[in-house]
Amino acid sequence: MKVTVYNCRSFDEKELFEKYAKELGMELILCPDAPDFGNVALAEGSTCIDIITSPMSAELLKAFAEAGVKYVTTRTIGYDHIDGKAAKELGLTVANAPYGPCGVADYAVMMILMTIRKMKRIIERTNIQDYSLKGIQGRELKDLTVGVIGTGRIGRTVLQNLSGFGCKRIAYDLYENEDVKEMGVPYVSLDEMWRMADVITLHAPLTDDNYHMINEEAISKMKDGVMLVNTARGGLIDSQALIAGIESGKVGGAGLDVVENEFGLYYYDHKSDILNNRELAILRGFPNVTVSHHMAFYTDDYVVTVVRDSLLGCKYFMEGRENPWEV
Ligand code: NAI
Repeated sequence: MKVTVYNCRSFDEKELFEKYAKELGMELILCPDAPDFGNVALAEGSTCIDIITSPMSAELLKAFAEAGVKYVTTRTIGYDHIDGKAAKELGLTVANAPYGPCGVADYAVMMILMTIRKMKRIIERTNIQDYSLKGIQGRELKDLTVGVIGTGRIGRTVLQNLSGFGCKRIAYDLYENEDVKEMGVPYVSLDEMWRMADVITLHAPLTDDNYHMINEEAISKMKDGVMLVNTARGGLIDSQALIAGIESGKVGGAGLDVVENEFGLYYYDHKSDILNNRELAILRGFPNVTVSHHMAFYTDDYVVTVVRDSLLGCKYFMEGRENPWEV
């Protein structure tokens, strides 16, 4: 029972892969690089390959199918990087490894708290022994209305997490969810969301319909000093409109785990590089905008879950058993 694992990280995944392979009775080929035409040969003799978010084009999938691969699992929730149509035509089964919503939901609440308490300024000051108070007065959640856009797995967990803080909670989604209503959280229209919320946190996927849903017009309808938290996808916010909103003071602060055009930047060490994302550079420079590099998901629980479940899916597939991770 052989699986070739691509993009295997030595610092957090390798040991877990070895542990679960032993437990599940599997032989693994561990490759630190992304799957490409140059390393397809590593998959010869493996029924399954285990990948992350690197693009799997029709041509690359064909090369793997020709090498004898029958199953492609991705250690992510999303699988849009795999050409599903081509996979089907080639007779390849595709699977994912969803992890729990708590990591991102915790992170979103942390970003909310950091933003309303001006934590970026506080950390920057303590780093240079500036212990003054002027300019770092925060606000209390009990006095605020927090709006959650997207009440799926993560958005609902955020709403639950927030229940202990005494804030007013409102929600917006294309589809209303009974659990949310049972929590006593009302659904509002987008216009009401813009008008009522002191803090808005985004938990919807990026689609053609909601690209730049937070744009100049939406921001103009929001409360003065509104705070925005985005742990969903960068394209939900028009960066130029956000920059203008911060500069005018209309937007009081932001916490951004994701930004537009982050692909190719995040997860690499670019310390010495000149980057080509001006919006990111500007946003990062504001004292009231906290930026992190799309890692809200990155917890111990996440790594264990994706390594274990991706391998378990391979085992189920090879044994011809029902496999909950097939997509
Ligand atoms: P989910 O699929 O459980 O929930 C998404 C919700 O958004 C659904 O209720 C859906 O109806 C709603 N929705 C879809 N289009 C909408 C729109 N135009 N306006 C309002 N609501 C809309 O997804 P889950 O697991 O809660 O994840 C949410 C998003 O979080 C993902 O799509 C992804 O973009 C992001 N994410 C970010 C991570 C990070 O590390 N920063 C990690 C994992 C997910």
